Amino acid sequence: MTIATSFFDVFLNPSADRKLRYAGDDRETILSLAALDEVRSEITTWTGYHPTPLVSLAGLADVSGVARIDYKDEGSRFGLGSFKALGGAYAVFRLLQGEVVKAGYPAPASRDLLAGKYAAVVREMTVTCATDGNHGRSVAWGARLFGCRAVIYIHETVSKSRESNIAQYGAEVRRVPGNYDEAVRRAATDAAANGWFVVSDTSYEGYTTVPRDVMQGYALMVDEALAQIPNGALPTHVFVQGGVGGLAASVCAYLWERLGEHRPFFVVVEPDKADCLFRSAQAGEPVVVEGALDTIMAGLACGEVSVIAWKILEKGADAFMRIGDDSAAETMRMLANTPYGGSPVVAGESAVAGLAGFLLASKDETIRRQLGIDMKSELLVIGTEGATDPEMYEKIVGRSAAAVGS
Ligand SMILES: Cc1ncc(COP(=O)(O)O)c(C=O)c1O
Repeated sequence: MTIATSFFDVFLNPSADRKLRYAGDDRETILSLAALDEVRSEITTWTGYHPTPLVSLAGLADVSGVARIDYKDEGSRFGLGSFKALGGAYAVFRLLQGEVVKAGYPAPASRDLLAGKYAAVVREMTVTCATDGNHGRSVAWGARLFGCRAVIYIHETVSKSRESNIAQYGAEVRRVPGNYDEAVRRAATDAAANGWFVVSDTSYEGYTTVPRDVMQGYALMVDEALAQIPNGALPTHVFVQGGVGGLAASVCAYLWERLGEHRPFFVVVEPDKADCLFRSAQAGEPVVVEGALDTIMAGLACGEVSVIAWKILEKGADAFMRIGDDSAAETMRMLANTPYGGSPVVAGESAVAGLAGFLLASKDETIRRQLGIDMKSELLVIGTEGATDPEMYEKIVGRSAAAVGS
């Protein structure tokens, strides 16, 4: 496998503290199992909800020298193609719920909004966000589901197909110059000028409530995954990809609060060209990565960490990795072509970073030892998207997603 020769880099987090209780430093006010109960009671009532599959990559586990690799395949989530369907749309619901209460009504459940019960309040509201594709699609979908307006900002290099995937839900899509972080700033400025509500998947000083709801929504996916592992077994290692860190923090917080010091060894994997979490871990504080952040892993092309995600990852993540684009592409092809048996999996560019990181680490004896990987290791990785950019997928894999999936 050519992946073994690709660039990668591992940083063991000196601030990781296994003995530290989850509750403390306000972590439990950011994400909690109690708030996940509320998420579950809402999202599981939405039409089209079903747990996404947990795929066992048994042949790949064999050749990688571990006992199991479980791949949580988010490609079918609510027909939106990614795990982001859980976050943005849930945050839109929470925001609208809050506005209905401010208008003097009792707190509605999502089924009330879906039935159009408070349409007079809700249709006056506009939600907005910046996106590299998946989050904006979720916000646009949530806005249409619950009956408000959406204006979604995309940056220079977001593909046409990602743009039309957002517009199909009736959202106005605005393309702005610069990178993702510049689109974040534009959304914030225009929202302030127009009285719109920002539904961002990243947090910054003074803006944490909505991204917290976004991240809390993601936790439903981890909850499903653990329930799907046969015989109630728990993973020994979790490799999760990072953009702003919201997804990784959500997974990490769930495992930390539920399993304490017995939680799996937790590794965050990023593209080498957008390594803000890796560099923040090295510096011991959030670090901004400037520039084009030019990686094929579009969902991970972020230069600034989410401050509330960092609050969890700074002590909860055991290691950080950065990988080159070639290993992501190689992993996509491997999941499509299944040289190690099993059924093909359609995985997008950002879906495979965690798995690619593990495969690279598993080939290196020193890194295996450092990360505690051995024949008994049981891996959980999150395949966060299907072919959300179909043209890019075909270019990389050589066949369309439909041809691979059938
Ligand atoms: C498919 C996919 N995976 C992973 C991520 C990373 O999530 P986060 O930015 O919360 O770290 C994203 C973000 O957009 C994504 O679209």
